[in-house]
Amino acid sequence: KMTAFVSNLLGKMTPEEKIGQLNLVSVGFTVTGPVVSQGVDENIKQGRVGAVLNTFTPVAARKLQEMAVKQSRLHIPLILGFDVIHGHRTIFPVPLGLAATWDLPAIERSAHIAGQEAAADGINWVYSPMVDIARDPRWGRVMEGAGEDPYLGSQIARAMVHGYQGPTNDMTRPENVMACLKHFALYGAAEAGRDYNTTDMSRQRMYNEYLPPYKAAVEAGVGSVMSSFNDVNGIPATANKWLMTDLLRTQWGFNGFVATDYTAINELSAHGLGDDKKVSELALNAGIDMDMVGEIFLKNLAQNLKDGTVKQADVDLACRRVLEAKYRLGLFTDPYHGVSEARAKQVLMQPAFVQAARDVARRSLVLLKNENQTLPLKNTANIAVVGPLADRPVDMIGSWSGAGDGKQAVSILQGIKNVGGNTIRVSYAHGANVTEDEQMIKRLNENGAQLNTDPRSADEQIAEAVRNAQAAEVVVAVVGESSGMTGEAASRADIGLPGRQLDLLKALKATGKPLVVVLCNGRPLTLPWEDQNANAVLETWFGGTQAGNAVADVLFGRYNPSGKLTMTFPRAVGQIPIYYNHKSTGRPYAGVLLDKYKSRYLDLPNDPLYPFGYGLSYTTFTVSKPTLSAASIGMTGALDVQVTVQNTGATDGEEVVQLYLRDVVGTSSRPVQELKSFQKVLLKKGESRQLTFHLTVEDLKFYNDDLKFVAEPGEFQVMVGSNSRDVQMASFTLTQ
Ligand code: IFM
Repeated sequence: KMTAFVSNLLGKMTPEEKIGQLNLVSVGFTVTGPVVSQGVDENIKQGRVGAVLNTFTPVAARKLQEMAVKQSRLHIPLILGFDVIHGHRTIFPVPLGLAATWDLPAIERSAHIAGQEAAADGINWVYSPMVDIARDPRWGRVMEGAGEDPYLGSQIARAMVHGYQGPTNDMTRPENVMACLKHFALYGAAEAGRDYNTTDMSRQRMYNEYLPPYKAAVEAGVGSVMSSFNDVNGIPATANKWLMTDLLRTQWGFNGFVATDYTAINELSAHGLGDDKKVSELALNAGIDMDMVGEIFLKNLAQNLKDGTVKQADVDLACRRVLEAKYRLGLFTDPYHGVSEARAKQVLMQPAFVQAARDVARRSLVLLKNENQTLPLKNTANIAVVGPLADRPVDMIGSWSGAGDGKQAVSILQGIKNVGGNTIRVSYAHGANVTEDEQMIKRLNENGAQLNTDPRSADEQIAEAVRNAQAAEVVVAVVGESSGMTGEAASRADIGLPGRQLDLLKALKATGKPLVVVLCNGRPLTLPWEDQNANAVLETWFGGTQAGNAVADVLFGRYNPSGKLTMTFPRAVGQIPIYYNHKSTGRPYAGVLLDKYKSRYLDLPNDPLYPFGYGLSYTTFTVSKPTLSAASIGMTGALDVQVTVQNTGATDGEEVVQLYLRDVVGTSSRPVQELKSFQKVLLKKGESRQLTFHLTVEDLKFYNDDLKFVAEPGEFQVMVGSNSRDVQMASFTLTQ
């Protein structure tokens, strides 16, 4: 039906109208790239626009859509896109925090709520999920992804696609939107963590370590894909036919449409691939269907066709894919996708959504240290709340927070007052500016960040905080990054606490009062002093609309923290890239003193400060040594792994039990461990439960040197535990 409908429509279109469908313009409320589209209304009426980004609200969306369906010759509706990354109006934790929940239903629900709100606000296409595997926390966009692991990343990618598009991908339903998988591909491997930088890696590493989440989203039925900015092994992604056609469509069977990232075709010139006409040809022939804002297709494809460098059949194919997306969204039946002001009023920020945001936010918090049960705080405590991020609702919603209103977010100071009630006493001091670096302040301001800068000198601010600390029983220092220090174009070379915040912590420590460090940040930070000296450390990311209440729920023990890191926290920048699923070298260092010719640093241990999968609870858990249902399995076999997990503490709590595998001997070197399964379980105090993990030969497979997906006979080690470091092991053999 769809094919016939689209063929019929294509038959009526002029070559110019077909090219028009490949043009995506940006107009409206936010600017998310270096240029803004001009002459949009006229272009829509002339059939020169296929989709628009950055406009929302029922009124604005209807106005645009009316222009297309009433005033253009063929009445073809527009797709309306927007960056809905971790919520639309109700903002959830940044994706790195969402991932730390290890709670797939909660993640799916957050995407579904975001999608419902976006749809009610006139959007039908969201630029999420961002599934770029990232191992370099200098890259600001690690905040937007699920972290470093391909298995967890794949699970999350799937959950998010279904959250947005619905469980059966029925995008005609007014509450569903089309997802856009990004950034294809390997954007997360930008060299040196500098945004937009080159990536270059072996195919084997790609297939095994970086591509699985994209593939998972394609298998889940994602409707569209965004090409990435970066170079991939010498051919920038947006001109990369191997990526866009051979891999994505031929190998994986993707049948949706591919849009570029913002002006990515134009940028091929800076990559050194040629002038506008040339890059237009390269992008289309690579398999790109839609040009985001750059108008390269609009201005060059007609000439490319005349020159014979691009075939009409390929333009038709790109146009067909865009029209099919519109069909899948049901826009030819209802171009407005059911949008109305009444519906928006009912849907946006409804209490159930706000409650869900609080619930997910508290699940995303990761307790990194808790010496002598410093936390939870007593609800009779006299607390000195200190720090530049404590009283900052706008920072709580983080970067890429869609149409979220930072002013409606709950600050951590406010959350402490809300949850602590009138039995606690609270003072507040700013303590330090989030940065003192003039260059950084200038760059952040250029990026539109509103910094919270106290005009007093750092010493005066610290002195005030110390006075407050001396008068209190416990200090809660809320420090970290401002939200603008993470996200796009926000790479950092030094990932310690910026500004004088560490000096502030040192001065607070010197008061002798218990020091609770609450971190707000969008990337792993280097925290050696904090780890050594704070009594408790709680990672809270940027928790969204309800951040403050969620953090306070955990601080006061209303919720027992259960989050686990999905990116390794290094001890120092010099360890980067650092990730848990690394290979062994030929000279692995086992921590033996005077072991000279081994792979190690002279000045630092090899291991990270906090490993992948790590996170504490107010209770304690034990996970038993795994027992296996068989000592060996054949090529069609399967195996059950059993462990007993017990809550050995005095509080109910949730534990994420993680299963890792090592393929001990292979035709290629294999990682020392790889996550293959996990279960998040709630256990009452004292309760124990037996967990069973089912492994099949599929779980043992990897892409070998010939890029064949194979399982190789030999020994496999199964490691199960509470994080990637603290595991117990058993092994089995795969036989031919
Ligand atoms: O979706 C984003 C992308 O992640 C970065 N460049 C701009 C796009 C649209 O706003």
